[in-house]
Amino acid sequence: MEKREQLYEGKAKKVFATDDPALVVVDYKDDATAGDGAKKGTIRGKGVVNNRLTNNLMKMLAEKGVPTHFVEELSERETLVKKVEIVPLEVIVRNVAAGSFTKRLGVPEGTVLKIPTIEFSYKNDAYHDPLINHYHALALGLAVQEEIDTITKYAFRVNEILSEYLLGFGIRLIDFKLEFGRLPDGTIVLADEISPDTCRFWDAKTGAHLDKDLFRRDLGGEEEAYQEVMKRLLGE
Ligand code: TMP
Ligand code: ASP
Repeated sequence: MEKREQLYEGKAKKVFATDDPALVVVDYKDDATAGDGAKKGTIRGKGVVNNRLTNNLMKMLAEKGVPTHFVEELSERETLVKKVEIVPLEVIVRNVAAGSFTKRLGVPEGTVLKIPTIEFSYKNDAYHDPLINHYHALALGLAVQEEIDTITKYAFRVNEILSEYLLGFGIRLIDFKLEFGRLPDGTIVLADEISPDTCRFWDAKTGAHLDKDLFRRDLGGEEEAYQEVMKRLLGE
């Protein structure tokens, strides 16, 4: 496999072509943004943590029946993945009220929800990734019903698997965001990343934030928190 030209640069990752049109290389950066790009910074070592954690979690999910784009970890920051067409939805699952859910609904942060919830945002930077319902997704042609059904089933399954797994390492999974992609034959697979950038992790004993909220809210200690999550999950 040969890494070729850069196809895309996002806020946290770059994507490169390879000599195989079905595969691309993802390269994780230390760059961090918050508030729709309003706040910009760096979390040293983040790219390594997010790459390694994402791969570890995706491998585990694949073994438990959730298909993913993961192919092979190439280096500390680079991973070979299947090229997909990203479904332009941010799929958010919540177990406990936090973040935008508390702001929108006035529910105190930390309130345990009676059942896990799912919500969709339309991936559209110009309109700030607006919250939509699944009829909007169908009406706009972002996905078809069968895809929404598959995505919803996988998202809740990921929640069950990850919640139990993380609790074994003293971490409560509060909420998280997933993205899905279509393979050329239309199969839906889990794509993007699963990391402290895209999940809320609270220490099960102390409630301490072990995620990007430390950066978003200027609380400090984000570098250490990312390292702590990697140490707990990967033992280093
Ligand atoms: P929210 O409470 O701000 O809507 O965030 C819900 C979850 O989604 C949280 O775990 C952080 C994650 N998230 C992203 O991965 N990317 C984003 O751009 C935003 C706003 C949230
Ligand atoms: N992705 C969001 C942004 O770029 C940051 C976040 O995770 O809250 O602003």
